[in-house]
Amino acid sequence: MDLSYDPAHIQGKTILITGGAAGFGAAFGARWAAAGATVILGDINTSAGEKVTAQIREESQNQNVHFIKLDVTSWTSQVNFFRQAVELSPHGGIDTVVANAGINDAPEATAFEKPQVDYLNDPSPPAPSFKTLDVNLTGVMYTVHLALFFLPKNPDSSNCKPESPTSEPGRDRHILLLGSVASLHPLMTQTPYTVSKHAVLGLFRCLRISAPLNAGVRVNIVCPYYTDSQFMQAPVRALLAGTPLGKPEDVIEAATYLVADSRCSGRSLVTGPKLKLDASTGKLDVLRDDSGEQIQEGPIWECYLHDMEPADIFTQRMLGLVHVAIKARGWIGWAYDMAGALTWPIRQRWNRSSR
Ligand SMILES: NC(=O)c1ccc[n+]([C@@H]2O[C@H](COP(=O)([O-])OP(=O)(O)OC[C@H]3O[C@@H](n4cnc5c(N)ncnc54)[C@H](O)[C@@H]3O)[C@@H](O)[C@H]2O)c1
Repeated sequence: MDLSYDPAHIQGKTILITGGAAGFGAAFGARWAAAGATVILGDINTSAGEKVTAQIREESQNQNVHFIKLDVTSWTSQVNFFRQAVELSPHGGIDTVVANAGINDAPEATAFEKPQVDYLNDPSPPAPSFKTLDVNLTGVMYTVHLALFFLPKNPDSSNCKPESPTSEPGRDRHILLLGSVASLHPLMTQTPYTVSKHAVLGLFRCLRISAPLNAGVRVNIVCPYYTDSQFMQAPVRALLAGTPLGKPEDVIEAATYLVADSRCSGRSLVTGPKLKLDASTGKLDVLRDDSGEQIQEGPIWECYLHDMEPADIFTQRMLGLVHVAIKARGWIGWAYDMAGALTWPIRQRWNRSSR
């Protein structure tokens, strides 16, 4: 698919990245700092965050790169992250928030499906650990909730304009979510991670409609396939041995396109090895035309378009109905009250006589 964009549109933007001390978050920061953005990395790992920040500053020669300690599972820490970011931002606002921090705690996944505690006899059985949900779901919900507060306050920004004929540089209001192939398919044995990433896709599918309407905020998601990064643990690598992995540069490219092009709203990009994809269903099967030729191939493709169109129409009609109902309720309510007032003496007399 065509991912052409003007990197100059990233210049001057203030971009917050959670989980920015390593992996995709650090790579996003390096790419966007090199393009002239103010990059604010938040991460629970202070030493890695400070090191990455110094490295990005040196390589990009951009001093507007900052690190703030952030634990996405802590509400206080997230509020502090956003408040400090606003202070550090040269224009006093936030253009893009990337909800990137994510973990997959494999032992926790095993313990969930094979309970180790004697729940019948233990006098005080501990609750199961759900760190993966805390970071990937609660953490993302906190980040997005705060983004929905701060982005519309970005000075000189206006409502997103997906219908604009050209991308616009300058102030923006953008939330970028990090889903996964686990948003689209179950990763058997990795239940909490799959649940969390399905939930992030659900968040995207709701907000892609309501956030532009309610707050003028555009919302996009990147769903990487298993990508060759630190995140990939040895057992997954072993299971996938002999098959191609996704490349981090494709994830960076997809995210950069979504950040740079202000018209991107409600877009869901999947990245992965050069697999064949049925773009209408999201199935990673070999797709052939009538003559048996493969008809789509590429490391980045759009997914879930098939449900966006009906969902868009459905939602637009729903909203239309809501507006009609609100207007009608005003008149109906008035008519009801007037009828009540006019018939009140008659009803009173009727009530007295029937006692
Ligand atoms: N790498 C892959 O194969 C892959 C595939 C699909 C989706 N993803 C998603 O991409 C995102 C980034 O993954 P990655 O591969 O760069 O991972 P990574 O492990 O390299 O980096 C994740 C970063 O998040 C930070 N972090 C963890 N818990 C945190 C917390 N409570 N508060 C703040 N920061 C915290 C870590 O310290 C780390 O710096 C995740 O959401 C992940 O689920 C990754």
